[in-house]
Amino acid sequence: MLDQLKQLETEALSAFAATQNMQDLEAARVAYLGRKGRMSDIMSQLPSLSNEEKRAAGQMANEVKAAIEGAFIAAQARIESANSAANSERAWIDMTLPGKQPSVGHVHLTTQAIEDIMTIFSKLGFNRQRHPEADWDYFAFESLNMPKDHPARDEWETFFIADPGKDAVQTGDMGKVVLTPHTSNAQVREMQKGKLPIRMINIGKCYRRQATARHLPMFHQFEGLMIDENVSITDLRGVFDFFVKRFFGENTKTRLRPFHFRFTEPSFELDISCTVCSGEGFVNGAKCKLCKGGWLELGGAGMVHPNVLKAGGIDPKKYNGFAFGWGVERTAMMRSGVNIDDIRIMYRNDLRFLKQF
Ligand code: DAH
Repeated sequence: MLDQLKQLETEALSAFAATQNMQDLEAARVAYLGRKGRMSDIMSQLPSLSNEEKRAAGQMANEVKAAIEGAFIAAQARIESANSAANSERAWIDMTLPGKQPSVGHVHLTTQAIEDIMTIFSKLGFNRQRHPEADWDYFAFESLNMPKDHPARDEWETFFIADPGKDAVQTGDMGKVVLTPHTSNAQVREMQKGKLPIRMINIGKCYRRQATARHLPMFHQFEGLMIDENVSITDLRGVFDFFVKRFFGENTKTRLRPFHFRFTEPSFELDISCTVCSGEGFVNGAKCKLCKGGWLELGGAGMVHPNVLKAGGIDPKKYNGFAFGWGVERTAMMRSGVNIDDIRIMYRNDLRFLKQF
């Protein structure tokens, strides 16, 4: 048995030394050290030996087993290190290769427009003020010279809120609460702060009962208000020009067209020369697809009506001013020169559309 053990040791050591991969190594381990392997096979003879022989055989068996296990561990380490060297060879990193570009998003085009609008108006000393987007009828209509049941209100297809909520502070008869159908509710609210002169921009969400290819039920407007002594239409025109040239481009022309609003007198619609045909009305001999005759309508404006000033606690004999209100989405689309046939795409989160701006 001692001879057998010696021979087993020699065989096992060379077998382990010859293994090249983990599968072979495991097979060798099972063959020599496994429960039914060569080692336990030899050891099964132990009971048949005399006590003295048992002691000698047991001692040698321990030595042989330790030697074989040592060879196993050495082979395992050898194979592992060969594997990891091979892996690192394969996983070679070329530091000079360009990295993967993380995809970078950008703000929505409405937000881009709002930021640009504010940058331009702040150069003229206009500050952005925040006013409610759910407000009393009084601020949305009545204080703007539109008494209850006045037919002019019909143009603003208004959402009403059934219950103003417990936090709503109402002084006097302010009527119902509405989702602001325009940002003009900011006018009297700003005047009532009691600080003059005023140069305000209020940018907010507006809501109207409309959902068509040309109208969104939720959209944005920016409202401008300037109140001081001796403000004239020339000032309105100057501010309008300043904005338009910076927002749409230096060569953009402007036009004031007489109109009617209850809260301004006189009132205008403000037009700019078309961003696609540069006001010509034609592109390569064909009628421009974006505008009608070279002009695009931007929005409403006018000199603040004396009744509105009075509602704001301002003496119309001493102060006057102008106001304007334009749609942000409309303004943004006009700048891009894109004639989208369905405005609702702006809020459909379609990246193919949004990425273009
Ligand atoms: N609020 C008007 C609308 O939604 C736009 C407007 C017109 C605002 C004239 C004004 C203004 O401040 O003076 O159609």
